[in-house]
Amino acid sequence: MNGKILLVNGPNLNMLGIREPEKYGNQKLMEIVEEIDKIAEQNGFKLVSLQSNCEGDLVDFIQKEGINGKGLIINAGAYTHTSIAIRDAILSVKIPSIEVHLSNIFAREDFRHHSYLSDIAIGVICGFGPNSYYLAIKAMIDFIAKSR
Ligand code: DQA
Repeated sequence: MNGKILLVNGPNLNMLGIREPEKYGNQKLMEIVEEIDKIAEQNGFKLVSLQSNCEGDLVDFIQKEGINGKGLIINAGAYTHTSIAIRDAILSVKIPSIEVHLSNIFAREDFRHHSYLSDIAIGVICGFGPNSYYLAIKAMIDFIAKSR
């Protein structure tokens, strides 16, 4: 086993498929997570995944699982634009992170243009719907392989 990759989804992402489908598409979060899990497993990684609507739960999970994780893929939802606590949690476990968004946050309201997570991430992928996640897991596996 090559180690653990964390997938973290923040508030309202449990509503995918129902929530504003014109922005976020029709796929359910469970379907995306299953696919990411499959790709991780095929490459010898164990995926540990959490969706929560609570900031503290996201922080707890990043602290607990991140400490011995190899990489973190995170869609923090609206917390992207507000949460210094999530930023600090990622920094505290010194884990390479990739920030993902289904929508292109730069083509939306001004308040979505700033992210507390982008400058500490190895990269940001946004605007490709569920493909943002699939691109992220491939990029993370590649990054981990190259840093060995
Ligand atoms: C989102 C973009 C955020 O601005 C928004 O608050 C979300 C979803 C996305 O995946 O496009 O909840 O992270």
